[in-house]
Amino acid sequence: MSKSILVTGGAGYIGSHTVLLLLQAGYTVVVVDNLSNSSEESLLRVSRITSRAVKFYDVDIRDYDALERVFKDYKFDFVIHFAGLKAVGESVNQPLSYYRNNVEGTLTLCRVMNKYNVKSIVFSSSATVYGNPDSVPISENFPTSATNPYGRSKLIVEQVFQDLYVSDSDWNISLLRYFNPVGAHPSGLIGENPSGIPNNLMPYIAETAIGKRDKLSVFGGDYNTHDGTGVRDYIHVMDLAEGHLKAIDFLQESKGLHIHNLGTGKGYSVLDMVNAFSAVSGMAVSYEIIERRSGDIAECYADPTKAQKELNWTATRSIEDMCRDTWSWQSKNPNGYSD
Ligand code: NAD
Ligand code: WQD
Repeated sequence: MSKSILVTGGAGYIGSHTVLLLLQAGYTVVVVDNLSNSSEESLLRVSRITSRAVKFYDVDIRDYDALERVFKDYKFDFVIHFAGLKAVGESVNQPLSYYRNNVEGTLTLCRVMNKYNVKSIVFSSSATVYGNPDSVPISENFPTSATNPYGRSKLIVEQVFQDLYVSDSDWNISLLRYFNPVGAHPSGLIGENPSGIPNNLMPYIAETAIGKRDKLSVFGGDYNTHDGTGVRDYIHVMDLAEGHLKAIDFLQESKGLHIHNLGTGKGYSVLDMVNAFSAVSGMAVSYEIIERRSGDIAECYADPTKAQKELNWTATRSIEDMCRDTWSWQSKNPNGYSD
């Protein structure tokens, strides 16, 4: 019998790409998502690509009773927990909403998991938990801190999982700290679908290239980096999705609580990304360098050695792959899933 996985937030950007790989690997996949930042169309397209069905429940993870009904219907082997809110700026203005969705939602999920004796979980954490690191590359043993409510919600949830594991070592927990996910499935059928004006660099570049935005504002040209613009560890979403399958394999052999960075270990600047995108797409991306964005750091990239060794996982896709697949998705779906 194939193993069953509950994927919370599975209709979203990283979730939908991971669901696709899980289906292709033969897992039975059940998604719960309240569609607050996604569309069921992503899952319909995943089914189309894989010719496999995804069972979908329109459920908010804060709703204990609704979640319990899902656990009554299926006996899960694992949970992959993507559901949550992720916009840093919004979290500053709406902290309660972020703590409710990200912290309370996780607590409710864990309570139901406990009741149904499902105690293996992979959690979407973030490089944001490293706050303002003293140096790069960043390894898992670096000190953690938060600079905004979104980051604090991730840190709190990580700490909840640590306490849960101390209280009951039957739990198997994988905390994956993602760096900057970009790109899309190479089919161009699924991808990142931000609502409104994108906060993140790559969707902003793509929307500028297609003519939805006039020009990109580059936040700061005076950082101590090779061209003065901010440097990040951009990771292709398919590499990231593969990391989740490896994390599940690893949890079955190595019980316990584990923390891994999922990044490439390479840093690219804003202008590196703009230039690579223009070269790959053949489209001009106008930009203007303006003042720094509050809260940004100069450089952030991973030391991915631990994930390479323990998960047997390495990001293989290049910056050109990231730009090509983003452009394929953007040009085929100029208005995202509403097309
Ligand atoms: P996304 O918004 O595309 O996906 C999150 C999904 O969760 C959405 O489909 C949304 O509708 C759903 N959701 C939100 N609150 C919910 C709730 N209360 N109940 C049920 N469903 C709910 O975001 P993503 O980029 O795919 O991110 C997935 C996870 O990875 C998030 O936890 C995010 O914080 C984390 N993460 C993302 C990034 C990034 O840059 N994209 C980086 C690091 C970590
Ligand atoms: C990347 C670079 C910007 C937009 C955020 C979250 C982090 C994680 C990933 C969830 C920076 C520059 C951006 C623009 C720009 N998410 N930029 N013009 O800030 O590294 O990380 O997403 O966990 O927690 O903080 O990503 O894509 O916003 O920015 O110049 O319009 O692009 O200054 O150097 P960031 P980003």
